[in-house]
Amino acid sequence: MAYPSATLNVMTAAARKAGRPLVRDFGELENLQISMKGPADFVTSADVRTERILIEELSKARPGYGFLGEEGGAVTGADRSHRFILDPIDGTVNFMHGIPHFAISIRLEREGQLVAGVIYNPVTDDLYYAEKGHGAYHNNKRLRVAARKELNSCIIATGLPMMGREGHDKALKETTAVMATTAGIRRFGAASLDMVYVAAGRFDGFWELGLKSWDMAAGIVVVREAGGMVTDLEGGQDMFAQGSVLCANEHLQPQLLKLLKAA
Ligand code: IPD
Ligand code: CA
Repeated sequence: MAYPSATLNVMTAAARKAGRPLVRDFGELENLQISMKGPADFVTSADVRTERILIEELSKARPGYGFLGEEGGAVTGADRSHRFILDPIDGTVNFMHGIPHFAISIRLEREGQLVAGVIYNPVTDDLYYAEKGHGAYHNNKRLRVAARKELNSCIIATGLPMMGREGHDKALKETTAVMATTAGIRRFGAASLDMVYVAAGRFDGFWELGLKSWDMAAGIVVVREAGGMVTDLEGGQDMFAQGSVLCANEHLQPQLLKLLKAA
């Protein structure tokens, strides 16, 4: 099979197209209409429009595929075997604050199995992508997770629950445990980018509780194809159902799992 496949090209083209107006919005944030969907959960007209463009573009090229989107929820397609999972802006709070660290995230599933993922930061024009069995890439560069084996030299990323969300105490306990054991913690504010940073060997690991499937969907394939391990925080493969994710290389993942479970 040619690589990148036609389907991956469709996904990256959709991300780039949806990203162009987002870059313009980012440049003039004050003109955006902001509404509150819930506590600390900002939804912007940009979010809704980005998801609409993604669905339009993907549907044109792959008619009938289903969708699960952060804004529009689940849409069943005539083709029951394929589904795209979309996060139109992962890192919405960064976006709203003028911090250029957010991404469009697209995952493709076939018969419920992971096929491909694309994560695109339109402001920095950084494209991360992977297709099962074909490796992970950042622009044209092959990605590989970091090789460190000892936690004391590692930088570990996480996400912390915002106001109105559960898990504040647990997050503090986990962060305390990781703080005491590693070279440092980072909280950058976009789970998809945290995961591709693990794939790129910038972060040695990432964990977060309370995530939605679209936050981590595309990142899972990118990390795996970069040689990393991805599990939920019980060590299983129920990331979506549990809403939790832990990823790192094969040496660090078990150490982090133990540490986080004990916290
Ligand atoms: C959020 C980001 C953030 C994470 C939150 C997510 P959103 O996604 O990924 O890093 O800590 O749990 O909800 O709301 O910006 O799409
Ligand atoms: Ca998200």
